[in-house]
Amino acid sequence: MTPQLAADFLLSQTSLRPKHAVILGSGLGAFADSLTDALSIPYCDIPGWPQSTAIGHAGRLCLGTLNGLPLAVLSGRAHLYEGHSIDKAVFGIRALGRFGVKAVVVTNAAGGINLSYSQGGLVLISDHINMLGVNPLTGPNDEAIGPRFPDMTTAYDPQFRAIARDVAQELGIDLPEGVYLACPGPSYETPAEIRAFRTLGADLVGMSTVPEVIVARHMGLRCLAISCVTNMAAGILAQPINHEEVLETGARVRGTFLRLLSAVLPRLDVRTIQ
Ligand code: HPA
Repeated sequence: MTPQLAADFLLSQTSLRPKHAVILGSGLGAFADSLTDALSIPYCDIPGWPQSTAIGHAGRLCLGTLNGLPLAVLSGRAHLYEGHSIDKAVFGIRALGRFGVKAVVVTNAAGGINLSYSQGGLVLISDHINMLGVNPLTGPNDEAIGPRFPDMTTAYDPQFRAIARDVAQELGIDLPEGVYLACPGPSYETPAEIRAFRTLGADLVGMSTVPEVIVARHMGLRCLAISCVTNMAAGILAQPINHEEVLETGARVRGTFLRLLSAVLPRLDVRTIQ
């Protein structure tokens, strides 16, 4: 089952041809409900699409419009910690690229490493550090899709980031920028790891996003990524981290997050850059 088969299936299901896609992180699935005339397809109905088993992830692809803008919205993603191969973790992005999407907004829940962040804040990802130990582009390269050695200098599109900052300011939403470091999980990090990651230049830590952005850039899609700081990273506060807290904070911030997303999306230019 290849991403092309999944894309062909999607093309056969709808006449909608969205250029924008959104990947919703834990607890943000409600965004998909705000689409008009949406076709909601459970991942299990799409050829080859991996199932998401993570709590807080719905596991469906919604195709619809948001104030007239055609959108593909993924509620739920396949994480490495679920036991998925890296190929499965990026299957959705590869399928969406073949479906015709040109710009991707990736959202996630993250732990805040930067001490100026607070729980419940939103952060615009400016760059990443890949600590997953794998790269989704390992293996034979299809030159028709992208180069063998894709550049990652502007993985988090500078124009998109400028637009997101402007929109956030207009809406009165605080939106600092930060570097996202990806760990495989599923255990949260240790306090020593968090201190080490801070020294390395990380502001946020999470268990997703990096493989998706690498593959999206390889295909020439433009990316914007926003984290919700659902908790301060390990060792910062005198309390343990738990998944319930992550989901609760996600739910509390959902309204602000969705307001920002809805206002940013129509302003994102879909002309590809390589
Ligand atoms: N660490 C890793 N992933 C996360 C965290 C965290 O503290 N919070 C939400 N996702």
